[in-house]
Amino acid sequence: MGDGMASEQLLHQAVATTRPDWYAARQQMLLDPTVTMLNTGSFGPLPRPVFDRVTQLRRQLAAGPTDFFLRQAPPLLWAARVHTAAFLGTIPERLVFTANVTAAINLVASSLRLASPGEILMSDHEYGAMIWCWQRVGQRQGLRIRTFPVQTMTTDPGAIVEAATQAMNRRTRLLFFSHVLSPTGLVLPAKELCAEARRRGILTVVDGAHAPVYVPLNVTEVNADFYAGNLHKWLLAPTGAGFLVIGAGNEDRLQPLQVSWGYYPDRYPIGEVTAAAGPDARDAYGSTPRIRFLEFEGTRDLCPWLTVSTAIDFQAQYGFENIRRRIAELAEYTRRTLGGQVGLPLASSPAPGLSGAMTAFALPAAVSAAALRRELWQQRVEIPVIERPERLLVRVSHHFYTTEAEIDRLAEVLRQLLPPSR
Ligand SMILES: Cc1ncc(COP(=O)(O)O)c(C=O)c1O
Repeated sequence: MGDGMASEQLLHQAVATTRPDWYAARQQMLLDPTVTMLNTGSFGPLPRPVFDRVTQLRRQLAAGPTDFFLRQAPPLLWAARVHTAAFLGTIPERLVFTANVTAAINLVASSLRLASPGEILMSDHEYGAMIWCWQRVGQRQGLRIRTFPVQTMTTDPGAIVEAATQAMNRRTRLLFFSHVLSPTGLVLPAKELCAEARRRGILTVVDGAHAPVYVPLNVTEVNADFYAGNLHKWLLAPTGAGFLVIGAGNEDRLQPLQVSWGYYPDRYPIGEVTAAAGPDARDAYGSTPRIRFLEFEGTRDLCPWLTVSTAIDFQAQYGFENIRRRIAELAEYTRRTLGGQVGLPLASSPAPGLSGAMTAFALPAAVSAAALRRELWQQRVEIPVIERPERLLVRVSHHFYTTEAEIDRLAEVLRQLLPPSR
């Protein structure tokens, strides 16, 4: 398997010279105009071309399921794999499509056998469900879970690497961290963290739930043993699109979560069986035997995966660097409005390179999370109130389609709802 970066990725990182009309771009989004939607960090809405494509594919599936699954889908699946791999900075032979990042991380966690006694190391800002996933590994395999502290307002990526390396020791078997932290949107220096772990013989699993589009991602450069992510958040692909990239040297480490027809690649009894020329050669199903072994989980809706190319092309027309520049402008506006005008303490790093499309603020201690969530939604404001051990946060997501008027409306609603003495 070669690891050369496809030139297509360079194309996707290219900077368009003219500034896009962001208000026209927003008209492409199928957003409910009665809602102030500031939660792309949890679930991405769909642009019209993405919705149209996935709907068209589902119509084809509905009209002729056998023809769709056996004849139409395989070349489309391979094309999606090639395009998505180039976008992520990897090769199609390493890219496993999954339903979401949770499935991808569970696939890795349920497969790995780690030497016991030992430790799994992670940051102290990981996503709750993924902490549980690794806790189960710890319980089953006799491993302790340890965390390293991250100062979420840091402006120094070196300090994050330092905190992680100080926590690594001879018992550390695996390092797990989010490329972008969910509660505050802090971007961790993934490449440097993986390099430090690798130097010490520690396996690395990166949760890139938010990373595609949020950062200029090149998975090969990050060089994790396993890199998992979501395409349904910032890439705005349909729900049901996630991925796992298998790092070099880890090709034989995984077992499928669900055993299906990919388990014995040369024994599928329906359709035309063509023996692939080796585990990494393209097969008749839009995969390779190695990928299909992990990816094929029985009959399922493939349409979200087949639509990822449309989602990539949709944002590529504006230029990903332009999109990230617009996001940075909105981050600045959000800091000025909620921090400066409303007076909420900023909880996210403002540093370029460490910040992005999610900006969090601390809420006053007297606030009830449940009551505030209810009241925000009564005002048709969609935004998460996040309970961290140290304090309550409100997390603003701002993608290219977010408007200053929406941030102003959030500020107005928070002024009404929060206690006056802050
Ligand atoms: C850091 C992180 N990991 C994992 C997940 C889980 O994502 P999904 O439910 O799409 O698998 C999320 C979702 O917000 C997340 O923020």
